[in-house]
Amino acid sequence: MYDNLFSPKKIGSKTSVNRFFSQAMEGNDGENGGKPSERTLARYEQIAKGKWGCSVVEAISVVPESLARTNGLVMSKENLPYFKRLVEVFRKYNPDGILLFQLTHSGRNSGLFSKRTMLYDDGLEGAKLLATDEIDRIRDSFIAASALAEETGIDGIDFKLCHGYLGGEILRPANVRDDKWGGSFENRTRFIREIMQGIRAKQKSKDFILGSRLSFFEAIRGGCGTDSPDGIIEDLTETEEVVRLLETLGADYVNVSAGIPAQTPDVTRPVNSSKYLYLNHFRYARIAKKATSKIAVVGSAYSVLKENALDLGDENVKKGYVDFVGFGRQSFADPLFPEKVKSGGKVNFCVACSGCSKLMAKQMNDGCIIYNDYYKEQFKAMNK
Ligand SMILES: Cc1cc2nc3c(=O)[nH]c(=O)nc-3n(C[C@H](O)[C@H](O)[C@H](O)COP(=O)(O)O)c2cc1C
Repeated sequence: MYDNLFSPKKIGSKTSVNRFFSQAMEGNDGENGGKPSERTLARYEQIAKGKWGCSVVEAISVVPESLARTNGLVMSKENLPYFKRLVEVFRKYNPDGILLFQLTHSGRNSGLFSKRTMLYDDGLEGAKLLATDEIDRIRDSFIAASALAEETGIDGIDFKLCHGYLGGEILRPANVRDDKWGGSFENRTRFIREIMQGIRAKQKSKDFILGSRLSFFEAIRGGCGTDSPDGIIEDLTETEEVVRLLETLGADYVNVSAGIPAQTPDVTRPVNSSKYLYLNHFRYARIAKKATSKIAVVGSAYSVLKENALDLGDENVKKGYVDFVGFGRQSFADPLFPEKVKSGGKVNFCVACSGCSKLMAKQMNDGCIIYNDYYKEQFKAMNK
């Protein structure tokens, strides 16, 4: 069963043992300045036991001052031993799995408890407009964070350019800055070019994986996937160009996503009443496959499909519409998912209630409120 999902696939110069891709999922349970806590480690131990071909550790900030979550993870020299421990725990249970860290800057998604920033001034509450040299320093922070991350023994980096975080904001046509970081497509993609070139120049292992997650269509005016600062209708001309640019810059994969969870949540993660939005994700993945022949394409938004995700994922891989089938909420509902599918175990399927997102929005530790007692209690406490 599911021979395609269980077939191996190259990602960069490494080989993933299957096509199950555990997406970055913030648990908001770091401690003391963004260190992975025992709870964080326990979550990734479970993911490791699930034997996903590729697993991405949730968004890790490259700076300590602009955070979306009160307990978000931060990559720093001081936190390095804790990240090393996370990698050790993961490798103990899944030595063959590919493990990646997602690096981000929260930008305008940063909470008001931290330093909220914006790249162009649209009057966003509490946000500071970034100066040219501040963006230069953020670029340098990504490159430095990647070099630090490599010291932990991970396989590579997922460079976050999606979901309204700074890496996505800089790409969108609405970024009409008049310095080198805005305006023309060339300027808006400078961030990708300089960071990817910087990471590649500093990496120690020639096999270090570098991929990126993109929101193909953000569904906001002037957002990624529109044609102008006031565009609203989907136009993927620039997005396809970005995929080709990633290929030219030596990316190993592109992880296709959409939307901005804080503004257009169903576009990113369909719920039962908006289920058919998953079809957009399938279409975007196929467009990415057509735009690039060299880099692997990871699809998203399968969780709402429940058990049908397996048939449809297998079919998409078979037809060459996608290379990896990405699961977000399903990895919370059942971190052991691939292993259970393989061995015929009883899977806890995500019910797409997005209770995990509701916990996250309230800055609680977040996880599955259906199958995990700790998060059930968190949810009850939140609603008291
Ligand atoms: C609680 C929660 C945390 C998330 N954290 C991240 C994250 O750190 N990085 C990221 O790129 N996407 C994040 N996402 C988005 C998921 O990776 C995924 O794209 C989304 O849930 C849709 O996939 P699904 O339908 O399989 O859940 C998060 C989503 C949820 C619900």
